[in-house]
Amino acid sequence: MTSHDVTLEWPDGRTLTLAVDEDETILGAAECDGAVLPYGCRTGACGTCSGRLLEVEGAERDADGTIDACAVDDAIAYRRLSRALKDRHRAAGYVLLCIASPRADCRIAVGSSVHTELVDNPWK
Ligand code: FES
Repeated sequence: MTSHDVTLEWPDGRTLTLAVDEDETILGAAECDGAVLPYGCRTGACGTCSGRLLEVEGAERDADGTIDACAVDDAIAYRRLSRALKDRHRAAGYVLLCIASPRADCRIAVGSSVHTELVDNPWK
């Protein structure tokens, strides 16, 4: 079974590198390693488990510094429809960790603050 090194990075500076098989989810691999990540539905519907790709091995960056959208698509395979993410979120590197499996070594920002980046705050 092919696996890829996935490094999770929390806002407080903690990191954890996991070898994640191509047939397991990143959330599942993290839980097996004892890591606690936010999640809700585990079906790709709520977005609670969102992470953001920081780096994909071998990927180019666009002029604005974001990872090339094609590299994002190549780095992550979904086992079901990622309903909680809009196309612009996927292109920007957001990933639903509950249904995502890696296809390349990568670094991912994790934690509840990533989900809040996706949600408009009506009280601002
Ligand atoms: S836990 Fe709901 S989309 Fe992943």
